[in-house]
Amino acid sequence: MSKLRIALTKGRVEKDIVKLLSRAGLDMTPLIEKGRKLIIQAGDYEFVLAKAPDVITYVEHGVCDAGIVGKDTIMENGGSFYEVLDFKTGVCSFCVAGLPDTQLYSDYRQIKIASKYPNVAKRYFNERNLDVDIIKIEGSVELAPLLELSDAIVDIVETGSTLKENGLVVLERMYDISARLIVNTVSMKLKKDEVTELTSLVKTAL
Ligand code: PRP
Repeated sequence: MSKLRIALTKGRVEKDIVKLLSRAGLDMTPLIEKGRKLIIQAGDYEFVLAKAPDVITYVEHGVCDAGIVGKDTIMENGGSFYEVLDFKTGVCSFCVAGLPDTQLYSDYRQIKIASKYPNVAKRYFNERNLDVDIIKIEGSVELAPLLELSDAIVDIVETGSTLKENGLVVLERMYDISARLIVNTVSMKLKKDEVTELTSLVKTAL
């Protein structure tokens, strides 16, 4: 019987967490050799591999005790759960980006912003009392200013190479983000010791 069932974001977060938990002494081989399996037992934990917004859904509904997900998804989706730990991996930032000569606030017109993260973008500009038209894009957001769909984008910048290779630059740095441990509100009470054990384990590897 697993101590905790943990929803883990597939892809970049998964790779970083596998490395980190291996460093913490957990045998993560079953995850490294998982093939196309989605539920994997590793040591005392059962990992459920899911897309980032679904990690939040599984934790909120209590079918997973905990989740490992980027702060970007937490900021965009919100939800009711506890955010208990910053893994300090997958560190990147939300930025406003655009063509180098972009003058976002040059005149009194509505700014057009394209983003995969419309809520984050809206919050940022609203906090600055700026009138923005947010256009939701599903991916490759860098295209929007290049095709003149928007004045700028709000997106995640990690190495900066996607912006650079498409002739775009960071106009404003918004928020720093990294992978976080979130815990279901009921599991936090019923499995407090197990959650503490996991966070202590992670802290040794940080
Ligand atoms: C993310 C993000 C940028 C890119 C940034 O996209 O939206 O496009 O990574 O990384 P970099 O600064 O290291 O170049 P992702 O790879 O998730 O694909 P997508 O654009 O199709 O969503």
